[in-house]
Amino acid sequence: MPKKKVEKLRAGIVGVGIGSAHAGGYAKLPSVEIAALCDLDTKRAEQVAAQYKVKKIYSDFEAMLAEEPLDVVSVCVPNALHALVAIAALKADKHVICEKPLSVNAVEGRKIAEAARASKGKFMIGMNNRFRGDSQLLKRYIEDGALGTIYYAKCGWVRRRGIPGMGSWFTRKEQAGGGPLIDIGVHALDLTLWLMGNPKPASAYGATYAKFGPEGRGSGNWGVPVSGGKYDVEDLAAGMVRFQDGSTLVLEASWAQYCERERLYNELNGTQGGATLEPFRIFTDRYDQPIDITPQYHNISGHEAEIAHFVDCILHDRKPIATVEQALDVMKILDAIYESAQTGSSVSIK
Ligand SMILES: NC(=O)c1ccc[n+]([C@@H]2O[C@H](COP(=O)([O-])OP(=O)(O)OC[C@H]3O[C@@H](n4cnc5c(N)ncnc54)[C@H](O)[C@@H]3O)[C@@H](O)[C@H]2O)c1
Repeated sequence: MPKKKVEKLRAGIVGVGIGSAHAGGYAKLPSVEIAALCDLDTKRAEQVAAQYKVKKIYSDFEAMLAEEPLDVVSVCVPNALHALVAIAALKADKHVICEKPLSVNAVEGRKIAEAARASKGKFMIGMNNRFRGDSQLLKRYIEDGALGTIYYAKCGWVRRRGIPGMGSWFTRKEQAGGGPLIDIGVHALDLTLWLMGNPKPASAYGATYAKFGPEGRGSGNWGVPVSGGKYDVEDLAAGMVRFQDGSTLVLEASWAQYCERERLYNELNGTQGGATLEPFRIFTDRYDQPIDITPQYHNISGHEAEIAHFVDCILHDRKPIATVEQALDVMKILDAIYESAQTGSSVSIK
């Protein structure tokens, strides 16, 4: 008897910058066909389409949603467009994976959360760092009680020279929502919150600085610079978050600063142990003596594993591990740090 042909999930990707990493993730899965790509930059879309043998290219995401019978949509456009594209796809009952940050602020983020609740489609926020081999393994240690109760965490993503796309949407508040805090600090924060069990935030305090970008210094390799473009975001941010359960978290993020090198780090302190993710170590006691554990892990691509997880959730009707509610809490914390940087006072989070 010939085997019945199983229908593949049909994926569409809007925005083919980091969207090409989504394409790479889908392409690894036999259960998925990349049906269409959409980008205003047709040349860029054609290159990605050629690489992944995608037949349809659009420049209008609404036309793509109307014409293509898609099951899943990757939202990989600049931050200010996340709500527009994600809500349109959710209203069409597509499953949606939206790149970080959820949006430019919590007001916009809430609109996505409402659309996600009303949709028949599933929603996941693209927090690829949760899916790295070391993050996944540390989460298992924590769930097995290796750290006890986590009460203090420190995390950050700092760069010596790493301003993306100087003068492009990345460095414009209106388009990006902010600078390194919302761009890369969001990864460090989300991963740490997830490892802590996503405690509910109560308040935040913070400061921001712009010492390099406004002078045109500190450019990195990511993004396409726009000559004469605006720079009205921070290039360094620091904050402290207090949670309803009494735990606290210290966060820093920079695109440019005089530090030794780029670092994405997460440190957790619990009643029974501590842990770091750069390098991966667990600090605890055995027989009343300190012991450091260096777990071995598979160094898998967070992007590929994230796409595989979302597709698995769709195929088996499971809830994705990176939820819209968690993404909204992250947005509220970022908003509070930005507000505190303006006012100089601690900001309560509801
Ligand atoms: N998770 C990660 O590791 C990661 C890495 C980089 C970027 N991101 C996020 O992904 C998103 C995109 O970032 P990027 O670095 O790819 O930016 P990018 O500027 O390189 O690419 C964005 C693409 O979107 C296209 N676009 C803009 N408006 C559009 C529209 N209305 N319809 C269709 N296409 C449109 C642009 O032409 C461009 O090709 C951002 O939200 C960013 O924060 C995530």
